[in-house]
Amino acid sequence: MDSPELFRQEAHKIVDWIADYYTGIEKYPVKAACKPGSVYAGIPEDPPAEPEDMRQIFRDFERIIMPGMTHWQSPSFFAYFPANSSFPSLLAEMLSSALGAQCMKWETSPAASELEEAVMNWLKKMTGLPINFEGVIQDTASTSTLCAILSAREKATGYAVNHKGIGSGTTMRVYCSSEAHSSVEKAVKIAGIGKDNLVKIGCDNEFRMKPLELEKAIQADIRSGYKPVCVVAALGTTGSTAVDPLEDIASICEKNNLWLHVDAAYAGSALILPEYQWMLAGIGKADSLVFNPHKWLFTNFDCSAYFVKDSEILVNTFKLVPEYLKTQIPEHVNDYSNWGIQLGRRFRALKLWFVIRSFGLRGLQEKIRSHIAMAGQLKTWIEEHPDFEILAPVNFGLVCFRYHPEGVNNPEVLNRLNEELLLAVNGTGNIYISHTKLNNIYTLRISVGQTRVELRHVQKAWNQIQQTAKSVFRQAKL
Ligand SMILES: Cc1ncc(COP(=O)(O)O)c(C=O)c1O
Repeated sequence: MDSPELFRQEAHKIVDWIADYYTGIEKYPVKAACKPGSVYAGIPEDPPAEPEDMRQIFRDFERIIMPGMTHWQSPSFFAYFPANSSFPSLLAEMLSSALGAQCMKWETSPAASELEEAVMNWLKKMTGLPINFEGVIQDTASTSTLCAILSAREKATGYAVNHKGIGSGTTMRVYCSSEAHSSVEKAVKIAGIGKDNLVKIGCDNEFRMKPLELEKAIQADIRSGYKPVCVVAALGTTGSTAVDPLEDIASICEKNNLWLHVDAAYAGSALILPEYQWMLAGIGKADSLVFNPHKWLFTNFDCSAYFVKDSEILVNTFKLVPEYLKTQIPEHVNDYSNWGIQLGRRFRALKLWFVIRSFGLRGLQEKIRSHIAMAGQLKTWIEEHPDFEILAPVNFGLVCFRYHPEGVNNPEVLNRLNEELLLAVNGTGNIYISHTKLNNIYTLRISVGQTRVELRHVQKAWNQIQQTAKSVFRQAKL
C-alpha cells in the first residue's frame, strides 16, 4: 500500500472506526471473554507470501483481534491503575507515527529533543517539583526506577561497577517499604545488587513506610558491614495508594548520604492539584522522582516522566558515544539517549504537548479532581452498606474494600468469598475490577481514573457488585 491516496482512504476509514469505537465502547465486555489460544488459532501458521488487501486485514482485525481485547478505555474499566488515553494524545501519536523519527540524539530530530526538555519543564512546574530537577521521558516507571537504582549504585561506588563489574566489593543495600511496587525488586535484581539485599521496611496501619524502622535497618546494616546506597519511597503505593512520609525519609537519606528515589508512578499526577502539594514535603532532599502521565494524565501509554536532581550522575551512568554516533552537539541541548537505557527513542513529548495544551492545566485538574470525588462517593456508599467494608484510606481515585456479610468472620472464608466475587463480577463483562492482599486480607480494588468515567458508571459498578455478592453468597459453601 504505497500510494498516499490509498493511505488517505484507509486512514479516513480507520479514524471513523476509532470515533465509532469510542462512541460505542460500552457495548463491549470490558474484560476480554475469549478462550485462551483462540486468537492464536485464528492466525495462519505461515506469513502471507503475497500482499494482502487492507480491507481483508482490517476485517480480520475486527474478527480475530477485537474479541481478544480488554477495553482499557471503557468508562467501566476499574481494574488496576488506569492507562488513560485521550483524543489529543491519540492525534499526536498518529503524527509521531507518521513522522516515524528515531529521536536518539538532538541531531536526529532537534524538535523532539527540545520539545521534551520544554514539556518536562512544564510538568515540573505543574507538579511543583524543585526548580533544579531536570526531566526526561522514559518508557515506564519500571525503567525510571531502574535508572535511579543504577545511578545510586554508580554514585556510591564512584562509577566502579560500570568499569569493573559488581565484583566482590562491599555488599550494597536498597530499602523500600513492604508495600513498594515489584519494579523495585526487579531493578535491584537487574542492577546486580541482588534481591536479598533489598530490605523491605514495615508499614503502619495505613500501609505507609515506618521511618524509624528504616533508620534502624540502615544502622544495623552499616554495623554489619553492608553499604546502604538507596531508598525508594512511594507516593501512592500500588496496593492501596499509601503515601510514605517523605519528609522523615528524606532526612534519614540526607543524614546517611543515600540516594532517595520517589516512586509516584500513579499518584504523581495528583501533584498538579494544590491540595496534594503536602506529599512533596522533603522533596528538595530527594535525588529522583518518577510519575507516569501514561497512567493518570490522559497521555497514551507509554510515557513515564523521570526527574533527577543531578543529571550529570544520570548521564555519567549511561553515556557511551561510539564513533558512529558522534555528532556535533551544540551547547545547551540534550542527547536523551544518554539519559537512560535505550538508544532508540520514540517522539513521546509530542503527545504530552498536545494533551497539556488541549486540556490546559485547569482541564487536567478538573478531571483528576472529579475522579477523586467519585472515589470518595463510592467510599461513602460502601461504608453505608452493612455487608461491605473499606480496607484502606481513600487517598486518590482508588477504593480498597471487601464483602463482609454479617455472621461470616472466618478470615479464609472471607478471602474465598471475595475471590469468588471478583471472578463473578468480572465474568459479567459489565465492569472490570482487580484485587490485592492487604495484611493477608483479600482486597477488592476499584480504580476510578478513566478519561470518560462519570458517576453513573461508578454507580453501575457498585450496583453490579452488590447484586453479584448476593448470588455468590447464596451459592457459597460456607
Ligand atoms: C507505584 C507503582 N510503581 C511502579 C509501577 C510500574 O509502572 P510501569 O508499568 O510504568 O513500569 C506501578 C504500576 O502500576 C505502580 O503502581
